[in-house]
Amino acid sequence: MGERLRDKVAIVTGASRGIGAAIAGYMAEEGAKVILVSRKIEGLQAVADEIRGNGGEATPIACHAGHRSQREEMLAGALKAYDKVDILVNNAATNPHFGPMLTIDEGAWDKTFEVNVKGYFGMIQLVAGHLQQRKAKGSVVNIASVVGTMAAPMQGVYAMTKAAVISMTKTLAMELGGAGIRVNAIAPGLIETKFAQALVDNDSIRSSIVNRTAAGRVGQPRDIAGGAVFLASDEADYVTGDVMVIDGGWTLA
Ligand SMILES: NC(=O)c1ccc[n+]([C@@H]2O[C@H](COP(=O)([O-])OP(=O)(O)OC[C@H]3O[C@@H](n4cnc5c(N)ncnc54)[C@H](OP(=O)(O)O)[C@@H]3O)[C@@H](O)[C@H]2O)c1
Repeated sequence: MGERLRDKVAIVTGASRGIGAAIAGYMAEEGAKVILVSRKIEGLQAVADEIRGNGGEATPIACHAGHRSQREEMLAGALKAYDKVDILVNNAATNPHFGPMLTIDEGAWDKTFEVNVKGYFGMIQLVAGHLQQRKAKGSVVNIASVVGTMAAPMQGVYAMTKAAVISMTKTLAMELGGAGIRVNAIAPGLIETKFAQALVDNDSIRSSIVNRTAAGRVGQPRDIAGGAVFLASDEADYVTGDVMVIDGGWTLA
């Protein structure tokens, strides 16, 4: 066990699997008490059990990140469990439409923006409000994507939401800097999770990405967790408004 996040309380959304579970696990290893958030409690329970089995501290809370009343109930539950929150990792996102951008229907559009943009923003409003009330410093880590910085055929609307996440990261970093609240983003490349299964399992897509990736492999959730722990920790006290690209060098050229 490390100590980089000792005495800190972290909310991690989308913590039941994939990148969120890896971030939550690593934060707990570094001493944070972690609030695990996603819609379904079963997956969260399993992650909480694993964290506790490793000597860490975790509380699962079911919450749809796109729904304001559920976000508010989640924060109330977090404060009941641990009295305070210091770190927010916005990670829960969705991409219901795979296809040319103009073929998306309104329901899929709304869902993508509801979770990926309104959900991230609403979580920050809540947690920043709590931090300001406490006059406490804090750190927000928004999981964006490299597709938010470039053309993204077949995932265009999802990519727009990730561009919005990068934009909100930079503006909020400036607006909240005076209060001691840092806001950063991580832009992952292709990471092997359920979310990316269709891409990872497709031989031609996978090899076309791996062939252009300096690291010569697809990323794993733990590759992202190290960046999130750093950005959340006091080691990153002078880092805010940054978009940390963790893509094995995929988008270098
Ligand atoms: N994998 C990649 O290649 C890749 C690349 C770039 C960026 N990213 C980003 O990384 C983040 C995590 O992705 P992942 O690959 O780890 O995905 P994943 O394995 O599919 O996990 C998604 C997590 O989000 C939760 N979730 C989904 N909708 C939710 C909602 N409305 N409210 C609360 N929780 C919700 C899911 O749990 P429930 O089903 O229980 O809600 C699950 O815990 C996302 O922001 C994604 O855009 C991923």
